[in-house]
Amino acid sequence: SNANHVRIVEVGPRDGLQNEKTIIPAATKIALIDRLSACGFPVVEATSFVSPKWVPQLADADDVLPAIARKDGMLYPVLVPNEKGLDRALAAGVREIAVFTAASDAFNQRNINCDIAESLRRIAPVIERAKADGLWVRGYVSTVLGCPYQGEVPLSDVTRVTRELYALGCDEISLGDTIGVGTPRKARAMLEACADDVPMAKLAVHFHDTYGQALANIAACLDAGVRIVDSAVGGLGGCPYAQGASGNVASEDLVYMLHGLGMQTGVDLDAVCDTARWINGELRRAPVSRLAQIPNER
Ligand code: HMG
Ligand code: MG
Repeated sequence: SNANHVRIVEVGPRDGLQNEKTIIPAATKIALIDRLSACGFPVVEATSFVSPKWVPQLADADDVLPAIARKDGMLYPVLVPNEKGLDRALAAGVREIAVFTAASDAFNQRNINCDIAESLRRIAPVIERAKADGLWVRGYVSTVLGCPYQGEVPLSDVTRVTRELYALGCDEISLGDTIGVGTPRKARAMLEACADDVPMAKLAVHFHDTYGQALANIAACLDAGVRIVDSAVGGLGGCPYAQGASGNVASEDLVYMLHGLGMQTGVDLDAVCDTARWINGELRRAPVSRLAQIPNER
């Protein structure tokens, strides 16, 4: 693989929309996913098969996933919390899933109603069945740089959960700074500690931009060798069960930085900016990203 290539995982349709209060029509979600496919992202996280009682916004996952226009060679993972979610996802024609837990028991209790150990017990049969069906599996570890309920999260908890999730069979692990509290040196140290147990090529970074640190954190992690980065068009996003969590790093700001660093992404920057402005219009709000506020003139 090319050391100058960064694989961007566009999580806007899932992480971006899950936090929206007003229910968005399924047609808008489908259009968003299709526009992001056309932008050139290799991976677009499409939706979640979580409990509709917990995340009402994504209760239409069963309708959205089968309706998207899949492009050859692209991945469209969906969040799956348990076997019930896997059943639903399989019925909707899923080929890639993402399982998720956290390095903090306190966060897991609020987000998935169980502790870390129980979450791994639930995830194990999900991965086993997914693998038997030939699905690609991503694993998320949340609260890798801090927890809204527990505060500091020991690095040893982050590396342990990352190692265990990888041992269960995940194809890659995304390290999530759920509430965006991380800063570059800590982010890099966290990534490097995880890379002692899991190959760097299998690690992704997932930064929320609550404190404006996301791009700086990503730059530091790129220096340490990470080549998979999560972002959301328009800087949408946040976890409804993480107090104070705001949007993901904006895809358009990330693409601009990566291209400026001489890295390749395969993503059309103007198309992402157009998509950011379009989805913000649909959501009736002003874009939070820097680039979406600049007319396309590059
Ligand atoms: P629970 O209430 O403990 O589960 O929730 P339960 O098994 O007792 O089920 C309760 C009800 O939900 C039952 O229905 C189940 O059938 C139903 P009832 O009998 O009451 O009518 N149910 C389901 N229905 C549809 N699909 C399912 C499903 N599962 C149960 N899959 C559960 C446990 C995990 C289900 C719940 O807590 C949940 O769905 N949590 C998800 C929360 C969430 O989606 N958070 C956001 C994603 S994580 C994130 O954003 C972080 C990330 O971006 C990385 C980062 O930034 O750090 C990934
Ligand atoms: Mg997130």
